Amino acid sequence: MTDINKCNTCGRWGANLQDNLFTKGSAGRRGVMPPTWRGDTLDYDLPADLRRDEPCDLPALSEQDVMRHYTGLSVLNHHIERGLYPLGSCTMKYNPRINERIAALPGFTTLHPEQDETDIQGLLCALTLLQDALCEITGFDACSLQPAAGAHGEFLGMLTIRAFHLANGDDHRVDVLIPDSAHGTNPASVVMTGMKPVTIASQPDGRLDLAALREAVGPNTAGIMITNPNTLGLFETDIVEVARVVHEAGGRLYMDGANMNAILGKAKPGHMGFDVVHLNLHKTFSTPHGGGGPGAGPICVTEELAPFLPGPDIVQVDGVYGLAGDEGGERPSIHAFYGNIGVCLRALAYILRLGGDGLTRVAERAVLNANYLRKRLEDILQVEHADGCLHEFVATGKDWKDLYGVRTLDIAKRLLDYGVHAPTIYFPLIVEEAMMIEPTETESRETLDAFVEIMREIRREAEESPELLHEAPLITPVSRLDEAGAARKPDLSWYGPCNCG
Ligand SMILES: Cc1ncc(COP(=O)(O)O)c(C=O)c1O
Repeated sequence: MTDINKCNTCGRWGANLQDNLFTKGSAGRRGVMPPTWRGDTLDYDLPADLRRDEPCDLPALSEQDVMRHYTGLSVLNHHIERGLYPLGSCTMKYNPRINERIAALPGFTTLHPEQDETDIQGLLCALTLLQDALCEITGFDACSLQPAAGAHGEFLGMLTIRAFHLANGDDHRVDVLIPDSAHGTNPASVVMTGMKPVTIASQPDGRLDLAALREAVGPNTAGIMITNPNTLGLFETDIVEVARVVHEAGGRLYMDGANMNAILGKAKPGHMGFDVVHLNLHKTFSTPHGGGGPGAGPICVTEELAPFLPGPDIVQVDGVYGLAGDEGGERPSIHAFYGNIGVCLRALAYILRLGGDGLTRVAERAVLNANYLRKRLEDILQVEHADGCLHEFVATGKDWKDLYGVRTLDIAKRLLDYGVHAPTIYFPLIVEEAMMIEPTETESRETLDAFVEIMREIRREAEESPELLHEAPLITPVSRLDEAGAARKPDLSWYGPCNCG
């Protein structure tokens, strides 16, 4: 029989990504022996035409077979448990296992969303604690936990600003200013709300251009979306003045808080003049992410915008929690029930375990690690806007391209051969051959030093044998994929051809 793990053409082991459980095992083998039913014949009303005539042809496997199968699958991809994952803007940090245990407590996992409010008092209390903690962290007055991702939070935040302007009769306010360094989801979210993104160029130092901003604001300004620190890892030092200019023009300020890891406990968006922020719980607050799993992008807002948040609200009357506040249906929710609760519970566990001092140390170490790495890589990688960064920095592979004909994509792919996930590449768009590197606070100095040595070795390879880098990765189960195709048209069949041909 063909070994499903070995490609018939190239002979590479593990080449067929879809390891086939259905060809494994042997008739009669068992992992678990369920007890024999000794009661009366079960009476169930499944229609006869839906019943099987013969037992389903399931693989017969031992517990060990199953364990090896899934462990094998789990290591085909790089992940944070395997090694360094310095993906800029994505904060791929270690997720403490205690968060998983807390989110998995039966008191949470056995609840049904339709259950009576009196039965979910503990959950409502936990969600209230989280909302309060996020307001405290961000310096705002109200919070909605409903958004299921950062982009969803942006969408809700912009809807909130839009609803505020509409309530004031300002339906002409549709222009949303966005710096050209922004994450692509920012303009996309604005378009989804029916408003119009207006790009403003950054200054040569990578920060927002105040003069360009002053020119761009006007009577149609709905607001501005700013990532702070921005996607170059730089703090927007003029933020208070930016807030003054935008508020004076009648607009509101949205902060993309995906980079909150850098400023936890140090600076609060609410104190900088922002009106709304979204947080990526699945980044800063340590829920596992990647691969499209559930996330949460709650937003926090000022008192002025609170009436425009989606309902229902969690309220507490005489010590009893309940859901109320949208009886007229004027504040439609944007997520079924109360949001992605499991993610929220993990974030709450993380926040409570660290406390204010712990969260502050997270930011301090994230910034320290990024600056350490930036400095140590100085003779290997050119860093753009190198005047000190916060939690991440952006390097350029432009000189590698000019000198050796090696592109940033080649470096990223070669890193996989060394057991390191690539940084974020080709973003932000304003940096040529960009490599955005975010080591996070959970990596040790030895890991960072090892990364430096790997990059040094790859630079040597680029100089001596650039063709090696063009072919990388060489030892992963699959080589270069059509990444957009893989995401949009995934082939989930279990017989997968090796991509060698
Ligand atoms: C700066 C920034 N904003 C927004 C987002 C969107 O977050 P999500 O992927 O959860 O939708 C990201 C995620 O990559 C980001 O890095």
